[in-house]
Amino acid sequence: MASQAFPDDFEWGASTSAYQIEGSVRADGRGESIWDRYSHTPRNVLNGDTGDVACDHYVRWRDDIDLMRELQLDAYRFSIAWPRIIATGTSAVNEAGLDFYERLVDGLLAAGIAPFPTLYHWDLPQPLQDAGGWTNRATIDRFLDIVDVVTRRLGDRVPNWMTINEPLIAGHFGHSLGVMAPGGRSWTDGLAASHHLLLAHGRAVEVVRGNVDGAKVGIVLNSMRAIPASDSQSDADAAERWDGIANRFYLQAIAGNGYPDDIHDLMAEHMPAIHDRDMSVIATPTDFLGVNYHAPMYVSAGQEPTGVSFAAPPPDVKTTDAGWPIQPDVLLDTLRRIHSVYYPGSIYISVNGAAIDDPDPESGRVRDPRRIDYLAGHLDAVWRAIGDGVPVKGYFAWPLMDNFEWSQGYSKRFGLVHVDYATQTRTIKDSGRWYASVADGNELTSTAR
Ligand code: GCO
Repeated sequence: MASQAFPDDFEWGASTSAYQIEGSVRADGRGESIWDRYSHTPRNVLNGDTGDVACDHYVRWRDDIDLMRELQLDAYRFSIAWPRIIATGTSAVNEAGLDFYERLVDGLLAAGIAPFPTLYHWDLPQPLQDAGGWTNRATIDRFLDIVDVVTRRLGDRVPNWMTINEPLIAGHFGHSLGVMAPGGRSWTDGLAASHHLLLAHGRAVEVVRGNVDGAKVGIVLNSMRAIPASDSQSDADAAERWDGIANRFYLQAIAGNGYPDDIHDLMAEHMPAIHDRDMSVIATPTDFLGVNYHAPMYVSAGQEPTGVSFAAPPPDVKTTDAGWPIQPDVLLDTLRRIHSVYYPGSIYISVNGAAIDDPDPESGRVRDPRRIDYLAGHLDAVWRAIGDGVPVKGYFAWPLMDNFEWSQGYSKRFGLVHVDYATQTRTIKDSGRWYASVADGNELTSTAR
């Protein structure tokens, strides 16, 4: 492969989220979140794992910034834990929580790394959940409280803000499918939560802009392209429905064209109350769209109300060790479609990575050639998209280091850095060293690959 240079100002980053890495869940006045409650409830998370300790990042953040420097990162995406800032969702502002993120941001800036904080990555304070959580419209105002407090404190140093991470997962996987906190199984709740999360995003954009001079703000959507599991018409129809529920619903609303008619019809009896100005609030103009991408979904005809069920990929499709299909062309196609149909302006790839059963570190090295292949294949897709005119401004590998993978607990390792959970020793994997050379050279080369 010839050398593939990226634009001069392309940003190379890595991402994480608070509950997945921080630990110290009772330190300095942090309150309980829905993920604490969910992970401590038997049978929700594999092996009973919780985020109580995770990567101990709350304590080891300085070492982790050193790792980011070694990885040659220009940018770091992390999330602010809501229950560290306003412990119950309605209590007084907790200065100690704000201080933590201020130290982290100052440390990043001193290391020449641009902070990209996400304001909601799923750790809703449990007392707000007890009052209905995201199915309750009042939760939006509570979210704006923390957005206001955090952007007032950090807005003089941090221009880039991401509002809500993956309303599809927080909405449907948390409320309709029961596989993420809070673990509900009602499509009515999932749609209400999705609508309120999108509204929370739109209103947060205004708050961020009010508090941050020169703010650059956007939402993060995960793309789950649907591929029919067979040639049958019924599977093709199911794929179109899943594309509507998982992708078009959010993209089209953000783009200002309302919710898709076919999904309105399909889910008519589950749709939430939509107030007069809601759809224009959701479509508040932003500066960029974050696109999270790992893999497409294979789907077939299934049960009501969606008429969709998930299927295994065909045997000739390679997968990661989480069983997720490896199809970089789908990322290329996704970026082209988002750009040409929804035209969000600038795009960041805000998550992209692979779960691999890595060997244990040996003499300070972790050999993970399959992760290098995965990342190289997807960076090639990003490079091609840019060549087609898609304005991708940066790429955040998911994640900086192995961490708590939600309902899969610690069983799935995605990181550029290996974490030994017993000792908290960090070891940069071969993929991390490879990624550092790509970031440093600002190009994919055959030798780098
Ligand atoms: C995100 C992601 C992460 C997941 C990762 C692997 O939004 O940043 O969903 O939280 O852990 O995508 O599933």
